[in-house]
Amino acid sequence: MTRFRPSFFRAAWWLLALAGFAAVAAPAASVVPAMPTHPFSWTRFLAPFHMVVLHFPIGVVATTALLEIWVWRKPSAELRRVVQFTMTIAVLASIATMLFGVLRAEGGEYQPATLSHHRGWGIAAGSSIFVAWALHWVQLREPGRGAVVAFRVMLSVCMACLVVAGHLGGSLTHGTTYLTENAPSAIRDFLSETPESTPAPGSLSAASSPEAIAVKAVFEHKCIACHGPEKQKSKFRVDDREILLKGGKSGVPAVVPGDPGKSNLIRLCTLPMTSDDAMPPDGKEPLDARELMTVVKWIQAGAPL
Ligand code: HEC
Repeated sequence: MTRFRPSFFRAAWWLLALAGFAAVAAPAASVVPAMPTHPFSWTRFLAPFHMVVLHFPIGVVATTALLEIWVWRKPSAELRRVVQFTMTIAVLASIATMLFGVLRAEGGEYQPATLSHHRGWGIAAGSSIFVAWALHWVQLREPGRGAVVAFRVMLSVCMACLVVAGHLGGSLTHGTTYLTENAPSAIRDFLSETPESTPAPGSLSAASSPEAIAVKAVFEHKCIACHGPEKQKSKFRVDDREILLKGGKSGVPAVVPGDPGKSNLIRLCTLPMTSDDAMPPDGKEPLDARELMTVVKWIQAGAPL
């Protein structure tokens, strides 16, 4: 019996680890957008792995907290060593997450303020995990009440940072309302911000001409998810007239008022769907003839607001 138990636990541990990895990796792999036509780039290849590895520090720190509750109720030298082991895994996983996160943040397609908050809280989470690991290491060498309390406080700080960083990360990829958009209306009303503020000058929300009002609806339907307040793919957005004219990262003006034929936006929206540059990309529903005419007429009219 005594010989059986350790190997049983070891086998169970490996099975659990494998199942956990499969559960995380399988859905994450399908999230990675396929871009086979781009030249190979390590950044582009590795960046999506941020979404795979980030679940490890969260899961391992949460598990450690549960183990810590157990040790608190039933002190055990053996479990103390297990906690040190899981904290080491958490430190390694958070270092990997932060490195992949640096790659993921490149490209400027995320809302900069949310991105910077997410980065800050992510770094705070990683650092606090390291400090908690160090505190636990100290208390393993020299057991004492102070170090245990300090470790528990730090572990709570880690959890708090992970919750905030995780939520901000979710807001970056799924939009700021991803958690509450399907909540009961009472909850949504409670959470909703004060009434719409007046739109900034140049914002398409201030549209008053019939052409601009019509084109705003088209952009909001087909483009704003990737080119709006929450994401700015290629640093381009369709809710601001100045950026609409200027274009994005390519440096090519997207809209030339009065000349749809010279407008890059029209060129991109009329490319065949199979083209790598077609807008919207990735097989998303393209502009239909009426929507395209709406955009063309708006440009012909001088791209008014
Ligand atoms: C699913 C996300 C997505 C949607 C929806 C989308 N785009 Fe894009 N858009 C992108 C990406 C990604 C790029 C960068 C492409 C590249 O660099 O190869 C881009 C680039 C552009 C550019 C070039 C910006 C520059 O760098 O000058 C324009 C113009 C553009 N999109 C217009 C539109 C319009 C108009 C719509 C709606 C009809 C639209 N996009 C819908 C993802 C999207």
